[in-house]
Amino acid sequence: MKLLLLSCLLLLSLSCNSANQVGNLNKLIKSQRYQRPIQSHESHNGLDQVRDNTYSPVYVESQDGSKKADKIDALPGQPTEGVDFNQYAGYVKVDATAGRALFYYFVESPQSPSTKPLVLWLNGGPGCSSLGYGAMEELGPFRVNSDENSLYKNDYAWNNEANVLFLESPAGVGFSYSNTTSDYQNVGDNKTASDSYKFLINWLEKFPEYKTRDFYITGESYAGHYVPQLAYTIVSENKITNQTKINLKGIAIGNAWIDASTGAQGGYDYLWTHALNSDETSAGINKYCDFVTFNISTTCAKYLGQSDDEVGEIDAYNIYAPLCNTESKPAASTGSVYEFDPCSDNYVNTYLNLPEVQAALHAKPTRWSACGDVGWTDSPITVLPIIQELIASGIRLWIYSGDVDSVVAVTTTRYAINTLNLKTETPFRPWYSSPGEVGGYVISYEGLVFATVRGAGHEVPSYQPERALTLFTSFIQGAPLPSS
Ligand SMILES: *[C@@H]1O[C@H](CO)[C@@H](O)[C@H](O)[C@H]1NC(C)=O
Ligand SMILES: *[C@@H]1O[C@H](CO)[C@@H](O)[C@H](O)[C@H]1NC(C)=O
Ligand SMILES: *[C@@H]1O[C@H](CO)[C@@H](O)[C@H](O)[C@H]1NC(C)=O
Ligand SMILES: *[C@@H]1O[C@H](CO)[C@@H](O)[C@H](O)[C@H]1NC(C)=O
Repeated sequence: MKLLLLSCLLLLSLSCNSANQVGNLNKLIKSQRYQRPIQSHESHNGLDQVRDNTYSPVYVESQDGSKKADKIDALPGQPTEGVDFNQYAGYVKVDATAGRALFYYFVESPQSPSTKPLVLWLNGGPGCSSLGYGAMEELGPFRVNSDENSLYKNDYAWNNEANVLFLESPAGVGFSYSNTTSDYQNVGDNKTASDSYKFLINWLEKFPEYKTRDFYITGESYAGHYVPQLAYTIVSENKITNQTKINLKGIAIGNAWIDASTGAQGGYDYLWTHALNSDETSAGINKYCDFVTFNISTTCAKYLGQSDDEVGEIDAYNIYAPLCNTESKPAASTGSVYEFDPCSDNYVNTYLNLPEVQAALHAKPTRWSACGDVGWTDSPITVLPIIQELIASGIRLWIYSGDVDSVVAVTTTRYAINTLNLKTETPFRPWYSSPGEVGGYVISYEGLVFATVRGAGHEVPSYQPERALTLFTSFIQGAPLPSS
């Protein structure tokens, strides 16, 4: 798995196209931005994505009896003890004419699920699976052992604190599909937000007890687009709908791609400040590259290529993590949530393709892959205007960042937030997870909390599960992060 930074986009190297969350993100940016300067009509801010005041019903079909049918008896290879919560999986139809359905996996909380909030988790890409990454490698209740057919428990799973819903979206990702194949080539941010909204309204018909429940949306990476866009769709639709009003309370996004200009600049600054690029390369990029218009000169391109070469073969998701070495794979042993196995993608891929696993999940027999090959048609350069609208709407808004990710690096997030010029409410300070250990740093602005997670890569809960759960708990409780 070779991951390169933004500069690989220019070189059109095949290695940039590895199907993973970041590979897909890079591919998108390349196709839309880097090949040519930004045209003025492309700079729409995404705020037009919701139709003007014309409500059209999104209820697709009766869900009677489907909750029961979606209940999972047990996942193959799950631990024999300690699985004391309900699991569900299946499809929700979002377009009856096209035959389009989205797949979900839902885990309730072991303790008092009826009093805990409902939380949606979305991975990015675009086009990557929240089941494969979020549920099976990050915050879900289980992770896959290196034997690739059994599971172990994640003691820091987020369903300790909430009922967590993982959605594979849009159609073409994971088990989500459409009977109209052109649907796979005509997707983008707009369609993803509107289909996810239709999914939620219809899912709530399946699980009506959650209709009025406090609801939060969380996600990472390119979900820095999906989450604010879906939240904005909900806020807008809630004003005009005569169907379910979703009780949206807040959103949290991690290592989130929210603004392309600061994203590129912050990424290269991160490489230099973390001793991965030379002074000369950094100076050349700063002098010759224009990340505001993305009019990339050949001199700039030369320095971007040099930047990649200097970084070498490291895991860009976590610059200090080991690479997956399949030769020295550990003998099938029980994994540990304390030490993230860099070969986890392989284990998950095998596991989710086992016919008995697909049957247990009520999935259509599918050649499952972590990231779908979906053609992306629209993606605004920035979602900061949407984020400003959400701040104005009064919902809770947290942005967090694992600080050893070089792809959507903490610098990019800080630069993006700084452009909003928000007033500081509580100054920058350390927060604590294990007693005595700094979990990261936090600053509260008016309407927005920004927190780092120390020692976490791009997938924060994979690398720092305890710190991630501390952060998540504070977020849904609306409480300050622990100060000791
Ligand atoms: C997204 O949808 C809105 C409203 O339907 C439309 O005006 C806009 O052009 C769409 N954006 C793209 C890039 O398709
Ligand atoms: C897709 O087509 C199959 C075969 O006709 C049908 O069984 C299935 O329900 C369709 N899916 C959707 C989401 O309509
Ligand atoms: C909701 O609005 C739709 C479209 O305007 C209409 O067909 C439907 O009857 C309305 N439902 C209720 C319960 O008012
Ligand atoms: C891009 O930059 C080149 C030179 O660096 C310049 O000649 C060209 O006009 C620029 N294009 C745009 C669209 O700004």
